[in-house]
Amino acid sequence: MIIIDSGIAEANKNYVATIEAWIEKSKINFTELLIVQGGEAAKTSDTVVETVLEHINTCGMCRKSVVLAIGGGAVLDAVGFATSIAHRGLQLIRMPSTTLSACDSGVGVKNGINKFGKKNFIGVFDPPLAVINDYDLLLTLDDQHWFSGMSEVIKVALVKSPALYETIKENIHAIQNRDLEVMVMLMTDSATLHLQHITEGGDPFERHEARPLDFGHWAAHKLEQLTNHTLTHGEAVSIGLAIDLQCSVHLGLLPKEVADEAIALLQQCNLPTTHPMVHDKELLAGIEEFREHLGGRLTILLLENIGKPVEVHELTESIVQQAVQSLG
Ligand SMILES: NC(=O)c1ccc[n+]([C@@H]2O[C@H](COP(=O)([O-])OP(=O)(O)OC[C@H]3O[C@@H](n4cnc5c(N)ncnc54)[C@H](O)[C@@H]3O)[C@@H](O)[C@H]2O)c1
Ligand SMILES: [Zn+2]
Repeated sequence: MIIIDSGIAEANKNYVATIEAWIEKSKINFTELLIVQGGEAAKTSDTVVETVLEHINTCGMCRKSVVLAIGGGAVLDAVGFATSIAHRGLQLIRMPSTTLSACDSGVGVKNGINKFGKKNFIGVFDPPLAVINDYDLLLTLDDQHWFSGMSEVIKVALVKSPALYETIKENIHAIQNRDLEVMVMLMTDSATLHLQHITEGGDPFERHEARPLDFGHWAAHKLEQLTNHTLTHGEAVSIGLAIDLQCSVHLGLLPKEVADEAIALLQQCNLPTTHPMVHDKELLAGIEEFREHLGGRLTILLLENIGKPVEVHELTESIVQQAVQSLG
């Protein structure tokens, strides 16, 4: 079964016909080609999950059947959830179609949808069979979604790789000009760092405390909810990174000039680093929601320097307020 994000089908009118022609010529036993709602809407209700489950059932697919999901992170998360619960798990091939999903979520092990207004409340850890990148898919992305992926590249560079951080700085003009070759290089580095963490970090299913890949995400997930997803995940992550960089400064962990430079770098990548909702009292609830999602003792990752993360177990209202005020 092939499942395609509606955003791709709308942006590239020949795409579905090309896939259909390929199916026609292929010797593989195809059951169905589905187009499903793209964007966060794929995760905010169970419609996509139900649709995929229904088709898996009516087509008589089995555990050895393979589903190819082509789409952004939201569609990959929702389809991945459906394929991992049908018959306790079908095979999934992910083909990420956004910069964010190619550099981060596509190579991850997490699948799920939102519930009770909380991001990824329902979900499972289930690695895909394979991940395939077709970079031509990215060409139809609008600027907002093109640049959204840069926040996850900068996130992983800040936490794990001073070398990647330098590469981003050196290539800033090419990044601003949507240079595909440079974007592919950065996405490859980012995906490799994400993959290394998952495969070699000793905690692929997040049973322990440290969560480096979630730097900036306690605020990001809450901001996505508070803005009713008018911020993309990538934009919310950019603001979340700025907040946690400032929290690191106000806790006396990180030199101010390092934080200022990183925040300027996010801005140079056309990403927002503040929003009126950062001043909403509800933002703080994101800390407890983050703790609940991860389980156990609150552990938030902050920075002492580029590539030098540090874990803290408390983030007070006063520090968060100072941080968001510094962002303007
Ligand atoms: N599972 C994980 O580990 C993980 C990691 C990071 C993010 N995520 C999740 O990923 C989601 C964000 O994913 P995203 O940034 O890819 O955005 P998205 O999936 O919301 O897609 C953004 C928009 O682009 C459209 N689109 C997709 N591909 C396109 C293409 N090639 N051309 C034109 N339009 C296209 C979509 O229809 C949608 O409207 C969030 O829900 C986030 O929580 C999951
Ligand atoms: Zn993310």
